[in-house]
Amino acid sequence: AALNRFIQAMPKAELHIHIEGSLEPELIFELARRNQVKLPYASVEDLRAAYAFTNLQSFLDIYYAGASVLLHEADFFDMAWAYFLRAKADNVVHAELFFDPQTHTDRGVPFAAVIDGLRRACDRARNELGIQAELILCFLRHLSEEAAFTTLQQARPHRDKFVGVGLDSSEVGHPPEKFQRVFAAARELGLRAVAHAGEEGPPQYIWDALDLLQVQRIDHGVQALRDPVLVQRLREQRIPLTVCPLSNIKLCVFGDLAQHNIGELLRQGLVATINSDDPAYFGGYMNQNFVETFDALQLGAAEAITLARNSFEASFATHADKARYA
Ligand code: HPA
Ligand code: ZN
Repeated sequence: AALNRFIQAMPKAELHIHIEGSLEPELIFELARRNQVKLPYASVEDLRAAYAFTNLQSFLDIYYAGASVLLHEADFFDMAWAYFLRAKADNVVHAELFFDPQTHTDRGVPFAAVIDGLRRACDRARNELGIQAELILCFLRHLSEEAAFTTLQQARPHRDKFVGVGLDSSEVGHPPEKFQRVFAAARELGLRAVAHAGEEGPPQYIWDALDLLQVQRIDHGVQALRDPVLVQRLREQRIPLTVCPLSNIKLCVFGDLAQHNIGELLRQGLVATINSDDPAYFGGYMNQNFVETFDALQLGAAEAITLARNSFEASFATHADKARYA
């Protein structure tokens, strides 16, 4: 209980949160009513009952259905603001939010409605909650390279509203090399780069995210331990992994938390962090991820401090903000 209080009180950065994955069933139904969108679920309970996943794809199908209620700038603001209130309660002081513009623009929602609603919530979080908040635009890897280029083009007039690009959605069969050119174009714009790799996919996808996409962090990356040479590189170059323990259990990447490898990643000297991924779907926000993982793996205060320090080191915060939490 003392450890749980310590974890709760510890300032931390969240670096792997899909803002569409923070959409709670209650808000999905509220927005469906507000926007007159018909949902294939009768009630909040009915929707929640569908949250039984066997792998990444089985989750993504429901996650994209949930996002269908988001139509207007105010909807994106309300979703992100609800997340920031929840993050504040967990003492998250810095957050980098992934968003998936293609999920919305493909339904006819203007790119500006998406990014302006999210950015307004970020600015308000900074002013009213003291949370430094940034946005990372993710390309959907199951869609084409051409579609990713179109999205980057749509984003160009909004260059000052987000700090980087990422790569998410269905990993296996959509390797990093598919997006090598679009990531090069994004880096030319001065954007940071991250990518999901080694969640379900092989260690080679982590190598390729580093070498072909030149990413600064790997999202998930838990499959890295299958490749000792890769582990050595991640350690020596201090390449962060944004690990999401409850997500990995819900998507059956590990059988249960006691089998999760985050303790081993830390023992091997990797810059691992704990994050919530899609908290409305996976059963917990930041502190829930910490507390359940620490309990299952019998980790202690030393690991909590390392994880919090890692989260600031791995962040795209300014040097001044990083120094405050070092
Ligand atoms: N992996 C890939 N795509 C995603 C995820 C994830 O964990 N969450 C939301 N989109
Ligand atoms: Zn993710």
